[in-house]
Amino acid sequence: MTNSKSLIAYYSRKGENYLNGSIVKLLVGNTEVIAKKIQELTGSDMFGIDTVKLYPLDYTETTKVAAKEKTENARPKLTGVVDNMDSYNVIYLGYPNWWGTFPMAVFTFLESYDFSGKTIIPFCTHEGSGIGKSETDIKKLCPDSMVLPGLAIRGGSVAGAENLVENWLKQHR
Ligand SMILES: Cc1cc2nc3c(=O)[nH]c(=O)nc-3n(C[C@H](O)[C@H](O)[C@H](O)COP(=O)(O)O)c2cc1C
Repeated sequence: MTNSKSLIAYYSRKGENYLNGSIVKLLVGNTEVIAKKIQELTGSDMFGIDTVKLYPLDYTETTKVAAKEKTENARPKLTGVVDNMDSYNVIYLGYPNWWGTFPMAVFTFLESYDFSGKTIIPFCTHEGSGIGKSETDIKKLCPDSMVLPGLAIRGGSVAGAENLVENWLKQHR
């Protein structure tokens, strides 16, 4: 994929989260750690998918809000837009696994642009469920995009994931 312009678009939630089976307060979200590694290795532009309404810092409270949003098929409003989406042909799309797929904010993001003809490369952090049905959901929302096999990393393993990320990226070059 030489000569392609790439964007890393990711959702990641700071605050209380699971790390190796215990709840800890994360200053940088797990998915953001991976997004930054991909940025270092590819030089891609970065875009944080952020919601206008913040989720509670408390983990359990957040899981409740997220479950309700999923049941209601909500589309949380986002704070920013990618002005020049047309200029990117590769999108690294990052998110945590929330209830088996990506957070509803990522549904909002994917419905906000035309990804036809672009390549979408998912990456996900999780606490045991892997990438879940998120790849299928991307394909449903972006039927005219090429969706490559994603990378799933457990939240507790993000700190030492350099080689994993590097080897995964090599598959796409
Ligand atoms: C609302 C919510 C729902 C979650 N649901 C799942 C799940 O279904 N499966 C799973 O493996 N992990 C689940 N997790 C754990 C996160 O996927 C994991 O901690 C992830 O690394 C968080 O990434 P972040 O720090 O970038 O937000 C959930 C976490 C939250 C907050």
